[in-house]
Amino acid sequence: MKLKTLISEKRLKLRVKQLAKRISEDYKYEKDTHLLIVGILKGSVIFLSDLIRYMTIPCKIDFIALRSYDGTKTTGVVQHLLDLHESPVGKNILIVEDIIDTGYTLEYLKNNLLTRGPKSVKICVLLDKVDCRKVDIKIDYKGFTIPNKFVVGYGLDYNELYRNLPYIAVLEK
Ligand code: IMP
Ligand code: MG
Repeated sequence: MKLKTLISEKRLKLRVKQLAKRISEDYKYEKDTHLLIVGILKGSVIFLSDLIRYMTIPCKIDFIALRSYDGTKTTGVVQHLLDLHESPVGKNILIVEDIIDTGYTLEYLKNNLLTRGPKSVKICVLLDKVDCRKVDIKIDYKGFTIPNKFVVGYGLDYNELYRNLPYIAVLEK
């Protein structure tokens, strides 16, 4: 296995800061309620923890665990492994995810949260493999569009490895 840098640490930091600024601007008039940030475990944790430290609005964080991948292949079936602790009722929810590929994971979660009485549900993803999309889904905040390659680092894994790389790399055989 070989790692080839796709997005450097410096570019990631810059983009994450820009996203946090935009999100903070967009929600700043929501005075009577905080933003509920819902991270999808485990891939979103590094992105989410950097993102929230640049945000300037009140927010709470919570996590959901979903799985749709096995190695480098999507299975098409989304398993719901862990659910929210916070109530979604009446909240502005921002789903934070590492990467969107087919879109099945985010479609499943957005629809699931919408049935639970939130005020709004938006989506923030760091990486978008736009050529792989199987379902039409609106991405409200996006870090980077990337080619259809298997990537690791900054939270993303290959069989649970490489999550700790501080940059995004393409994993080549
Ligand atoms: P989707 O449901 O096909 O959109 O897949 C999204 C999920 O697949 C993400 O949450 C990731 O966990 C995983 N995934 C998709 N592409 C990659 C990749 O290139 N590297 C690591 N994980 C990926
Ligand atoms: Mg994921």
